[in-house]
Amino acid sequence: MYRRILLPLLAFLLSASCSLAQQTEVATENCSPSVDLPYPSNTKLPNPFTFANGNQVKTVKDWACRKREIQGLLEKYELGPLPGGGTTSATLDGDRLNVTVTDNGKTISFLAIIILPTEGQAPFPAIISFGQHPTIPIPPGVAIIVMPTDMIASQQALFSRGYGLFYDIYGTNHSAGAMVAWTWGVGKLIDALESLTPAVTKINTKRLGATGCSYNAKRRSNHLRFGAPDRTYDCTGGWNRRCELLEDSRGVEQKR
Ligand SMILES: *[C@@H]1O[C@H](CO)[C@@H](O)[C@H](O)[C@H]1NC(C)=O
Ligand SMILES: *[C@@H]1O[C@H](CO)[C@@H](O)[C@H](O)[C@H]1NC(C)=O
Repeated sequence: MYRRILLPLLAFLLSASCSLAQQTEVATENCSPSVDLPYPSNTKLPNPFTFANGNQVKTVKDWACRKREIQGLLEKYELGPLPGGGTTSATLDGDRLNVTVTDNGKTISFLAIIILPTEGQAPFPAIISFGQHPTIPIPPGVAIIVMPTDMIASQQALFSRGYGLFYDIYGTNHSAGAMVAWTWGVGKLIDALESLTPAVTKINTKRLGATGCSYNAKRRSNHLRFGAPDRTYDCTGGWNRRCELLEDSRGVEQKR
């Protein structure tokens, strides 16, 4: 029970700041939180600004490090491990970005669609939309990238567990669920955009947000990646179940 409350809370805290403004990347090279994180019994909600070892978060750099630790907790106790490694290559043909990933001796590829805005100046900030074209308004001057999340990992019902490109690479029995798999896919998408460079893609990979409707709105998957060690992209939004309201990263619903 306690865990069911705690982990979403931590995920929520990961997203406490949201803006498509320029993201600051915080150096975390000296940050190596333990991978063997303890999970002590605690009858109260833990202080998110206290490391597992009891040290306090005092600086922005500490917080970047603590986010890694929280990510570790989520992966270990709820979502399954996010695989690192692998190589990514990409080609862009019109609006079709073909992302190819090789890892674990296997290769997969998927197509993401890039829709550039009709105004503004390249490289554009972009909203990565999970699964479908967004039905909420996207601000002028912001690109949309439609990510084929269902191809990365299916989520139809219990029987769809283990199906999708992620599992083609890592095996149907990999312990990560769809949310981690989608996060992995978005990470590869960003790697692909970075490798092609903004001059080619016209996308500013330092100004990315993500959104999705209904099950695609499970923002934790975005946060895992966007709060990932080497990056601080943390603007995400989800639609509510009826996809009529936009929920911002603080969980506040706004009428569209
Ligand atoms: C994407 O690229 C891979 C690797 O070059 C290729 O095998 C695949 O056919 C391409 N997919 C599409 C839809 O063009
Ligand atoms: C996955 O796990 C199931 C149940 O333990 C097992 O029957 C199956 O052979 C495993 N599949 C692979 C590819 O390891």
